[in-house]
Amino acid sequence: MSKSLAVLTSGGDAPGMNAAVRAVVRAGIYNGFKVYGVYKGYNGLLNGDVKEMNLRSVSDILSRGGTILYTARSKKFMQPEYQQQAADFCRSLDIEGLVVVGGDGSFRGARALSNLGIPCVALPGTIDNDIACSDYTIGFDTAMNTAVEMIDKIRDTAQSHDRCSVVEVMGRHCGDIALQTGIAVGATSIIVPEVPYDVERDVISRIYEQKDTGKKHFIVIVAEGVGGVQDISKYIQNRTGIETRATILGHVQRGGSPTLRDRLMATNMGVAAVELLTKGIGNRVIASHGGEIVDYDITEALNMAREFDNRLYDVAMQVSI
Ligand code: F6P
Repeated sequence: MSKSLAVLTSGGDAPGMNAAVRAVVRAGIYNGFKVYGVYKGYNGLLNGDVKEMNLRSVSDILSRGGTILYTARSKKFMQPEYQQQAADFCRSLDIEGLVVVGGDGSFRGARALSNLGIPCVALPGTIDNDIACSDYTIGFDTAMNTAVEMIDKIRDTAQSHDRCSVVEVMGRHCGDIALQTGIAVGATSIIVPEVPYDVERDVISRIYEQKDTGKKHFIVIVAEGVGGVQDISKYIQNRTGIETRATILGHVQRGGSPTLRDRLMATNMGVAAVELLTKGIGNRVIASHGGEIVDYDITEALNMAREFDNRLYDVAMQVSI
């Protein structure tokens, strides 16, 4: 049997996952491997849901959002007996390496399989940018560009009515989408889980101060991890008398054609993963660090603490006055 690699996408989908799958398939074949696509995340390894890919299986997917391999958050795969079943299945196909594109839950699965003798390399694929070891995750840029496009439209209507709009953007535990999008749309307030907030100080006072200088419409960005946009909206309206509307952008941020940044990052990381597996190296996470592609031991990566960009938060506070 010829040597084989496999690739799967796991967790929430992110624009650029297809670009990563394409890179793994093409680089794998380029380096003499047979490459399997595994469907529906780790479940594909449990259900035998795999297909051998060829160069043309990944044609015309570079510009597509979502993932052609589908994705899942497999509860079953968290259990050791199913991890063993998946490792045995990989061995039955002579799979010498697996590339997993997903978030930190997916990394844990990759570590478990690596420990069972199937070398795995994980790529950070999530719109949230919440992977501590990497200063960038595949999908982040596209999600933010979508959010900016949507919030610019919301601003048009808020401006026409002299209203305030409170907008929730995604980010379960991480305020990066909120912070960077908030700066890009000129938000009055940006509320993120990393910075404790006080609605009077961080929202109401800022609105009053800006109102005094002639501003008539306001955008407040709230990260999903903080939530409560309906309540914040009502509070602002009651306290200021400014008509206020709440919008939850939701899953629109997860879709769409990936930006150049996401296509490039996914391609670069996908090829780097194959390079490691070609050398028989597994149990690694590919990351971006200061513009370089680097890799870390999965446990080391999972133990890293994420740092919020306090300087960028301060930048936002200085200009949104
Ligand atoms: O992790 C990415 C993310 O989009 C989060 O921002 C969000 O909380 C979560 O996924 C929602 O996931 P789903 O709707 O797929 O359960």
